[in-house]
This record gives sequence, structure tokens and C-alpha cells, in this order.
Amino acid sequence: MISDIPNLHPIFDKILNRNDKEKLLNQHSVVVWFTGLSGSGKSTIAKALELELHSRGYISKVLDGDNVRTGINNNLGFSDEDRKENIRRIAEVSKLFMECGIILINCFISPTCIIRNQVKEIVGTENYFEIYVNTPLETCEKRDTKGIYAKARKGLIKEFTGISAPYEEPVNPDIEIKTEEMSVEQSVEIILKKLLPRIEYKK
Ligand code: ADX
Repeated sequence: MISDIPNLHPIFDKILNRNDKEKLLNQHSVVVWFTGLSGSGKSTIAKALELELHSRGYISKVLDGDNVRTGINNNLGFSDEDRKENIRRIAEVSKLFMECGIILINCFISPTCIIRNQVKEIVGTENYFEIYVNTPLETCEKRDTKGIYAKARKGLIKEFTGISAPYEEPVNPDIEIKTEEMSVEQSVEIILKKLLPRIEYKK
């Protein structure tokens, strides 16, 4: 009988949880959340961080506009409501990765306290590690790697963060990176110092 199967196979009773997976991967999961203006350097630092973690034997996943807004969130724009939904879905996806023991490295403008608080609520404050990439608007605009600030100034892009839409600085981030004052390598070093104790697997 089907109902006898669990007794015949006690292994069926075992549901693998987050800790089982973290043990297997020899790491603790966390959601590293980069916030900052467009062009502030979030993804650059995040990718360097991922590389460094990889070389130390940690598995992580970078989520950013490039792989999220072109796929799962390709029906969303930049109104308050859409940004909130963008971040809500990202937080929910992050939670699924986290249950698998994987370290998330997320790079999103996530411009308001309300939006970032929503992430904390979904993934749990204890799992949220906030990094504020603090690059002044003038510098982001000068860099303008995607030519997007020029378009925003001409009014071709509406509700552009920092120009025609707000960016609220995080109140108490775990780390603040001033990209004008330090290199990508230095930034990664600072992050690792605080992050490694959080992700080293403790039995
Ligand atoms: S968020 O506000 O919802 O967190 P997200 O990080 O996903 O934004 O996307 C930001 C990227 O989308 C920017 O780096 C920029 O390239 C592009 N973008 C296009 N339109 C806008 C806009 N109106 N405001 C900000 N970024 C925009």
C-alpha cells in the first residue's frame, strides 16, 4: 500500500532543509544587496566579489538588471509601482536561492527605504547584508557608460533615478563604498572582511 511506503523507506520522511544544503556546500547563504544610482559601480564590484568568492570555494549568483529585467521582469518599467514589483520578485527569487544555500549578490538601484524594507521583510533581516555604493550623481552622470543620463536630461527617459525620480540613501548600511575614494579591489577587500564571517560554515 502507498501509505506503507514511508515505513518501508524511512528516507522519504526526510525533507532536506536549508541547513542540509549549506552543509553540503560548506557555506552559509546570505543576500548581499547592492544599492546605489545607475552607473555607481554596483555590478562591477559585485562581479569582482563573485570572482573572489568563487576562488575561495563559495558559490554565489549575481542578479542585476541585465539578467532580471530582460527575463522574469521584462514586463516592468520604472514607475514606483513597477520598481516595487521588480524588487519584490527579486527578493522572492533570492529566497528560493537562499533555501538552496547559495549566496546572492544583488545589484539594483532599489531607490527607496520602503522598497529595501520590503526585501528585508521577504528574505528576513538576519539574511540581508546591505552595501551602499555611494557615487555622487555628478560622477555617475560624467561616466554615463550607457549614455542613459544624457537621454534622461533631454527628457527622453522619464522618472529617471537621481534626475526626475528620487534616490533615498540607506540609513544604516552594513557597508558603504565610496567609489571615488577606492578601487574595485579595495572595495572587495572591505566587503570580504565583513562578509566572510557571515558565510563561513559553522557546524
Ligand atoms: S530599480 O529602481 O527597479 O531598482 P533596476 O536596478 O532594476 O532599477 O534597473 C536600473 C537600470 O535600468 C539602470 O541602471 C538603467 O540602466 C536602466 N533604466 C532605464 N530606465 C530607468 C529609469 N527611469 N530610472 C533608472 N534606471 C533606468
